Amino acid sequence: MEFVRLDGERLTLVFALEAGGGADCAYLGARLPKGEDLAMLAAATARARHESQPDVPPVPGLLPENKAGWSGTPALELRRGGVRIETDCRLNRWTTGPQAAHFMFHDRSTGIDVGVRWVIGAGDVVTVGLTLANTGKEPIAVNRLAALALPVPARFTELTRYSGRWAGEMQEHRRTVAPDGLARESVTGKPGFSGANWLLLHAGSEVLGVHLGWSGDHWLALEPDAQGSGDGRAMLLMGPALDAGEIVLEPGDNFAGPKAVLALAPNRSALAQTFHGFLRKAVLPARAEWTPRKVHLNSWEALGFDLSEPGLVALAESAAALGIERFVLDDGWFGGRRDDRTSLGDWFVSPDVFPNGLAPLIDRVQELGMDFGLWVEPEMVSPDSDLYRAHPDWCLHVEGRDRPTMRGQLALDMTRAEVQEYLFERLDALLRDHAIAYLKWDHNRDLFPAGGKRFIQTFGFYALLHRLRAAHPHVEIESCASGGGRIDFGVLSRVHRVWPSDNNDAIERLRIIPAWSQFLPLEVLGSHVGPSPNPITGRRLAMDFRAKVAVFGHMGVEADPARMTDTERECLAAHIVLYKAWRGVLHSGNLHRLTHPDANITGMIVTHADRALALVAQTAFSPVFDAAPVRLAGLEPEARYRVTLPEPWPPRAKHYLAAPELWRDGLTLSGTALMTQGLALPLTHPETAWLVALERLPQ
Ligand code: GLA
Repeated sequence: MEFVRLDGERLTLVFALEAGGGADCAYLGARLPKGEDLAMLAAATARARHESQPDVPPVPGLLPENKAGWSGTPALELRRGGVRIETDCRLNRWTTGPQAAHFMFHDRSTGIDVGVRWVIGAGDVVTVGLTLANTGKEPIAVNRLAALALPVPARFTELTRYSGRWAGEMQEHRRTVAPDGLARESVTGKPGFSGANWLLLHAGSEVLGVHLGWSGDHWLALEPDAQGSGDGRAMLLMGPALDAGEIVLEPGDNFAGPKAVLALAPNRSALAQTFHGFLRKAVLPARAEWTPRKVHLNSWEALGFDLSEPGLVALAESAAALGIERFVLDDGWFGGRRDDRTSLGDWFVSPDVFPNGLAPLIDRVQELGMDFGLWVEPEMVSPDSDLYRAHPDWCLHVEGRDRPTMRGQLALDMTRAEVQEYLFERLDALLRDHAIAYLKWDHNRDLFPAGGKRFIQTFGFYALLHRLRAAHPHVEIESCASGGGRIDFGVLSRVHRVWPSDNNDAIERLRIIPAWSQFLPLEVLGSHVGPSPNPITGRRLAMDFRAKVAVFGHMGVEADPARMTDTERECLAAHIVLYKAWRGVLHSGNLHRLTHPDANITGMIVTHADRALALVAQTAFSPVFDAAPVRLAGLEPEARYRVTLPEPWPPRAKHYLAAPELWRDGLTLSGTALMTQGLALPLTHPETAWLVALERLPQ
């Protein structure tokens, strides 16, 4: 047995390797002291054989197989001529660098080489992926493929998994790992709302976050008690879901699967910061492409399909008066698209809505000092469209079967070259002919039947995105799928923003944004002030509350300012000013979650250099009149801070401030005082939110 050790800044990984045998992760945890005896480390957790176990207990390790009596889900399932192969992958080589290890296995019966690569990246986030190469003489089909197989250190006894639905993304569920584990698979052709591409494992406050960076279907298995290995560790597997026959490796073929990421942190705030840092440095399009995150006005919840050039110009004018910086024309601008049953695929500006084309609207938007964004849903086609009438075979379908629709639409087969060509030509022409700074790229249908292409369809999506980005590198793109149905590190390496949810209700957003921000930084999370009553929940919320909540993200407005009162418009404009003043902090800083004894009080603070901004919001009527002081986080204990409450203040709550002038001029307090005792903010009524601004004073 040989041992390989990789060290990050705060992390150590130890692998136990047996040439001709297997590879195991013998340690995943806080950085070990130099000179730690790795053989002793492994021996300290090794166990002798127990009853009802193969005579030689199998080590599923980094590439679990069933060959030696391990009864869990294998990382790979290969088929030859339709027949499942009992693989016997043996470790034959490995290479290591200071922060990367590459383990090469070979299966003699098929000639398949399997590479398992672990890399410690920015901020100690670990990327893991599998590669396959067919060195044999026959085609081999891949029916199952994991990106990550992780024997989970036994101290992780609890998990948080995610579920969701349209307008209710990322619902957290915490429970114990054992005894029944977890098995999930998505079938929507995208990560979807089921959230099983995200997972947290807990060992007390220590937390291990795991994610699959892939924009198609995924599977996840957490198996605490697979018979065989008997060392008390659960096996976690995560990978892209495949239809039979989608990947066939001909002799000489190579294949690299999507990658999973994992990160370890002492608590959930630290984990969020770790993922945010990794995305900022290693995943998101290069920062050089980014302007400050402009305030959007999106036409969807303002006008819906009720579009006309004069109406949109009026909307743009009222938007500019609020301080909006980007005007986004959502659905309804193309073909015969006057409702959501028709015309997807006909990506030509509608002469009915825009007799003079889009140019006059875009010109006016630019005159008003804003740039222009456009909604598209390229991967879809409506049966009622010129595109479908001309090319009924371009959609994903199964010959001779029904073509069931969802939202009145079908999905195009993105694996077809002519579909790629058509979509590129249309989108490229739109971007060349118009000054478009941003695309909201939607995907509102699940893939059923997927025609056996649910994996390669995603490559088609990536290919189109890649080609367009190369041709138009300055266009920002948002990934939307009826809200947060296609959010993952794969798409985030290609886009600048995601749409976390169609639900703009600020109370819902106070759950949804913190949930996404466990993995994603605020600058990619679209955060809009919607109308009141909210079109989805029907809830009425005051503008002050809606606007404060929307500041914590990439802010926008998705309501018609003409339908707001003067007071509401003033309040919204004042919050847009605040957002602009603070976005540098919110979009580069460290996010900490605040805890409060009242579960209906949510708080986040972002610290950056010598500034910090907190959002503290109350959703339900407090059981006590004076809610406990809010304790801040992430401050330097010894530093002194000037604390103010940026105005406007919540109209009802402000009457409970004992000394308003103090909160205006600023209180000076140490980081220790702010984090230990906190601030007694008036949190008396439901739907009250405060922003708290901090400035670190020179020593
Ligand atoms: C989807 C999106 C919405 C909006 C509509 C337009 O539902 O999630 O934000 O763009 O489509 O049809």
